[in-house]
Amino acid sequence: MLATLVFTFLPLLARAQEASSVSVAPAAATVTPSDSDAGVALFSEETVQLTDDVIANLENNTEVAEIAHLLAFEDSNITESAQRRVRRTWSRCKTSPGDILWPSKLVWTLFDLLLGGALEPIIPIASPCYRRSEYNNYNAAKCADITNNWSDGATHYEDPGSIMFPLYYGMTCPQGTNASALGTCTQGGYSAYSVHVKNVAQIQLAVNFARSLNLRLVVKNTGHDYNGRSTGKNALSIWTHNMKGIQYVKNYRSASYSGPAFKVGAGVQGFELYEAADKYGVSAIAGICPTVGVYGGYSTGGGHSPLMQLFGMGSDQVVALEVVTASGRFVTATPTVNSDLYWAMLGGGGGTFGIVTSAVVKVHPKVSVTTSSFNFTSAGIATETFWEAVEFFWSEMPKYNAAKTYSYFSIMNLGGMYMFSMFPFFATQKTVAEYEALIKPFFDKLTELNIHYDVETKHYDTFYPAYQATFATIDYYIGGAGSTPGNRLIPKENWNNAEIRSQTFAAVRNAVDNALVVMIYHQAPVTPDKIINSVNPAFRNEASMLVAVNNIVDTSPEGLEAGNAVMTNTILGPLRDVTPNGGSYGNEADISEPDWQNAFWGANYPRLAAIKKKWDPTDLFYVHHGVGSEGWVVEDGERGVQTQDGKLCRV
Ligand SMILES: Cc1cc2nc3c(=O)[nH]c(=O)nc-3n(C[C@H](O)[C@H](O)[C@H](O)COP(=O)(O)OP(=O)(O)OC[C@H]3O[C@@H](n4cnc5c(N)ncnc54)[C@H](O)[C@@H]3O)c2cc1C
Ligand SMILES: *[C@@H]1O[C@H](CO)[C@@H](O)[C@H](O)[C@H]1NC(C)=O
Ligand SMILES: *[C@@H]1O[C@H](CO)[C@@H](O)[C@H](O)[C@H]1NC(C)=O
Ligand SMILES: *[C@@H]1O[C@H](CO)[C@@H](O)[C@H](O)[C@H]1NC(C)=O
Ligand SMILES: *[C@@H]1O[C@H](CO)[C@@H](O)[C@H](O)[C@H]1NC(C)=O
Ligand SMILES: *[C@@H]1O[C@H](CO)[C@@H](O)[C@H](O)[C@H]1NC(C)=O
Repeated sequence: MLATLVFTFLPLLARAQEASSVSVAPAAATVTPSDSDAGVALFSEETVQLTDDVIANLENNTEVAEIAHLLAFEDSNITESAQRRVRRTWSRCKTSPGDILWPSKLVWTLFDLLLGGALEPIIPIASPCYRRSEYNNYNAAKCADITNNWSDGATHYEDPGSIMFPLYYGMTCPQGTNASALGTCTQGGYSAYSVHVKNVAQIQLAVNFARSLNLRLVVKNTGHDYNGRSTGKNALSIWTHNMKGIQYVKNYRSASYSGPAFKVGAGVQGFELYEAADKYGVSAIAGICPTVGVYGGYSTGGGHSPLMQLFGMGSDQVVALEVVTASGRFVTATPTVNSDLYWAMLGGGGGTFGIVTSAVVKVHPKVSVTTSSFNFTSAGIATETFWEAVEFFWSEMPKYNAAKTYSYFSIMNLGGMYMFSMFPFFATQKTVAEYEALIKPFFDKLTELNIHYDVETKHYDTFYPAYQATFATIDYYIGGAGSTPGNRLIPKENWNNAEIRSQTFAAVRNAVDNALVVMIYHQAPVTPDKIINSVNPAFRNEASMLVAVNNIVDTSPEGLEAGNAVMTNTILGPLRDVTPNGGSYGNEADISEPDWQNAFWGANYPRLAAIKKKWDPTDLFYVHHGVGSEGWVVEDGERGVQTQDGKLCRV
């Protein structure tokens, strides 16, 4: 029967292809009313939904009846017995090609028709560099473009399958313009198919299809994730990057917040949000990197920001979420509606509890900023003198935090010569004179130590030009295989007395001596009146965050294992020991962080795990070191670090 379907579907196929180019509703969807418990109307793409009626119609359509149950909701009673039959054939591992449940070409085609033509196979981004590969798409000019732009984030976030840290797909198709120097190009840990999302129905169809067939499901927004959590071998990947709506709501009102707000789509990136905030004369919260997706991994994972000292964490901004859950249902989550889901999704991590389609977020008054960049090296001075200066800056941090400022600086050991680069000190709501008074003891110290330093200080009336001149210009190193991060949130109590402060500083110095580069923030988020989300409690008490970046030159499994051990033990070990009440930020974490449940969520973990069980009982959503991921492992062989190039299986 199925074999003949492709022919009867040809007219529909033609229509679907037309549809995808003019972006009308997909085949299996209906348009619903736009009102929402979020207090702001749904975006038009959110009113295009899958409903029980649509499924009932599919059931009655002889051409698709056979696969209708694969697209039904988890709690649907229409196709319950058919769903149960399929579920009995689920195996220990998520479905792979060759397994009975792996969709045939025809079923993929039907699925694509019902999606309205949104499905595409993921092709490794560097495959045009290969004269011979299963993709048969050699193209020297395209290869040169990809290779030349490899370290540019856009190369990866504009591609449905690519991720920014290739280690995690297994490096099975590296880029390079010398075709004869390249080995082979295979799929590795890249996901298999992408659903290029333009509306909510497509997400619901994909969630139901993946759950029914026990397929691995992945959510990809920009591909920034440092632990490879936006890719997975053989996965169906939901690509939210193009959900770009931004709407200003001047007078938002709800039980938890009244004031100006934005309603923002899941694909909005930092630079787009900051630009919109400037346009509407408000301040909005995103990270330092312009291209991070604000409502994918950032706000669900916590989100630190150059304005956090004034307005709180990224997660604290969100007053309502629109979400597709593991059951396929589209729900609203606020502090009063589905409040457990709301609590868990803001801090509990991306790709774990549901798929955000949009968020309503607080925006704030404009702020002025004084930015200051300065740097000095150990050239011509004793090494201990350099460190005395840095330690002085370290000891001043509580003052800088109390003054509600923020800074981002790096320390590097360049073969025995040390370099300190502040880029920038971000003194919000400070005049130049106020900033200079705050920093004066430090500059006096440099002078006293005979350290030459360069400094450039500027004042801006608003955030946007200050951001554009500083954070937006940083080269955020991406695309490399051997530079893996690890971090520690260092609590205020570590400045309580000189002894603990100097022990802490010794661990910082040790990190610099063992890493490629160490990036340090002085940062302390303002505490909300009431904490109503699951952000790592370690953020609430931090005075500083330290991110160390490893430089692993030998990317063989042995080299990766040894290099990663340097991060986990040599660099982070002493920092962990000296900060028993600290924690680690899951979004910039060591891939091998030990006791990660406690490090990323502290006392919130048991409640997060219970909410995960309730909203995702079949573990449809899996991410490395995500809440509830203990029962699963990616069987990737011995790679030295955990990649996504292997089957996802129950332990
Ligand atoms: C160069 C660089 C700079 C950074 N700077 C900062 C910073 O200043 N502050 C900060 O806090 N963090 C920063 N980060 C970390 C950043 O917050 C995380 O990498 C974040 O997870 C990226 O989210 P994304 O959606 O852009 O990326 P993706 O890799 O696409 O997704 C990240 C995770 O979120 C999930 N996800 C994506 N979309 C959705 C969705 N719609 N619903 C549910 N889950 C989803 C994915 O499955 C994945 O698990 C930085 C990272 C990089 C690489
Ligand atoms: C499906 O078919 C049955 C039997 O013909 C009919 O009773 C029912 O109304 C139909 N449902 C839909 C949604 O068309
Ligand atoms: C099926 O579920 C709907 C609500 O989801 C309910 O109204 C209906 O009565 C149920 N039908 C049967 C046969 O259980
Ligand atoms: C990518 O690199 C090519 C050179 O090969 C250059 O011409 C092009 O402008 C670059 N594209 C982007 C998006 O940076
Ligand atoms: C390309 O790679 C081959 C094989 O490693 C090498 O012999 C050759 O010199 C390289 N060509 C260039 C232009 O680098
Ligand atoms: C040091 O700071 C000065 C002034 O801000 C700047 O011009 C210079 O590029 C910086 N040098 C380094 C190596 O960061």
